[in-house]
Amino acid sequence: MTDLIEQQTAISEVLRAIASSPHDLQPIFDAILDSATRLCRADAGSLRLSEQSGLRLVAVRGDPFLVSQVWSSFPVLAEKGSLLSRVATSRLPTHIPDLTALEGDRDDLWITVVNAGFRTGLVVPLLKDNEIVGTITLGRKQVQPFTDKQISLFSDFAAQATIALESTRRERQYREMQSELAHANRVATMGQLTASIAHETKQPITAARTYAAAALRFLDKNPSDVVEVREALTCIVNETDRARDVVDRIGSLIKKAPPRKEVVDLSAAILEVTALTRSEAVKTGVTVGTQLASELPRIRCDRVQLQQVMLNLIVNAIQSMSGVEDGSRELQISTVNIGPEGVRVEVQDTGPGLSPESLPRLFEPFYTTKPEGMGMGLSICRSIIEAHGGRLRATGCEPRGALFEFTIPAA
Ligand SMILES: Nc1ncnc2c1ncn2[C@@H]1O[C@H](COP(=O)(O)OP(=O)(O)O)[C@@H](O)[C@H]1O
Ligand SMILES: [Mg+2]
Repeated sequence: MTDLIEQQTAISEVLRAIASSPHDLQPIFDAILDSATRLCRADAGSLRLSEQSGLRLVAVRGDPFLVSQVWSSFPVLAEKGSLLSRVATSRLPTHIPDLTALEGDRDDLWITVVNAGFRTGLVVPLLKDNEIVGTITLGRKQVQPFTDKQISLFSDFAAQATIALESTRRERQYREMQSELAHANRVATMGQLTASIAHETKQPITAARTYAAAALRFLDKNPSDVVEVREALTCIVNETDRARDVVDRIGSLIKKAPPRKEVVDLSAAILEVTALTRSEAVKTGVTVGTQLASELPRIRCDRVQLQQVMLNLIVNAIQSMSGVEDGSRELQISTVNIGPEGVRVEVQDTGPGLSPESLPRLFEPFYTTKPEGMGMGLSICRSIIEAHGGRLRATGCEPRGALFEFTIPAA
């Protein structure tokens, strides 16, 4: 009975580690080993995971001396065909009650194990659908065989830990793929804006040059007009700051960064994106209006991802209006305080709007009506917003145009 409770505690500790560390596998590996060594009264435990070329050591826990011995004496990659790999292929727990009593098989690995201070060992392969996904090895400093009970308890624990580990790995792979896609979409969207963004960076540089030329003229005056020179230099500083800000913003949108949650000033984040897209709007003859609520509930989100959503919606809106023959081309961006529920952001255009055929398909991956389109923008926007606990929806407007609105819950 107590054994069972201990086993339950061990697995629930692993699950807790998984819940509290969604992005990093290391604490989960450590929790698995801590639980395993405690469950079986071992002095140290190590975890290896299968990869193409063998079994890679990913975590060692327990007696500090043994831990350092393992890292310094054992190969990090136990290659295919090595003794450890062969032991794992049996798919059964391998128990060596007394290493010093082992006859015959005294090879290099044996010497390493004994020199590292181990006397009793237990290797349990981790199996998924009969595939070896890794191994856990437990060791004791004294000759003290594991009991059958401990071995079977530990095998059960290892099976449960494997399931937990595998689902976290899959989940993480999926998240990594999502973030790759999101990054590719950011780069592609910025790519569509290259000409406008180049213009946006060139503007302050040109202005700075004009001020510099003026400063030279004021300096050449006799006597030099120091007051004017100072003023021109101050303007140069401001313009170069502006250029640097634009480059920084481009950088943060193009850089690949792990997702993060932080308190974000929504208005500032939106204004940065409208600044980046300003030239594109001007080029397309679109006037941009913003109506940003002065008081908004605090929100926590990934700033870059939020800007990516805005960028996609704004670029879509501008593109939709590029074909409008008559009538004004207006883009309206608003934020609304929706109280305890958080904030709502609206992006409305006066383009052709959404046809009944396209409306249900807008958010499908690869759905596009543009010759050069990828059709990934809206699907990524929706997954970003939903990952933040919000909703993104689209509606047609009267007499024309489309409205995209999303919510972000309050922190
Ligand atoms: N503001 C809008 N007005 C009209 N149609 C839109 C608007 N935004 C998106 N759409 C439609 O949704 C489709 C998918 O958009 P998106 O996922 O961003 O991919 P892409 O922009 O590469 O086509 C667009 O091709 C377009 O048909
Ligand atoms: Mg798009």
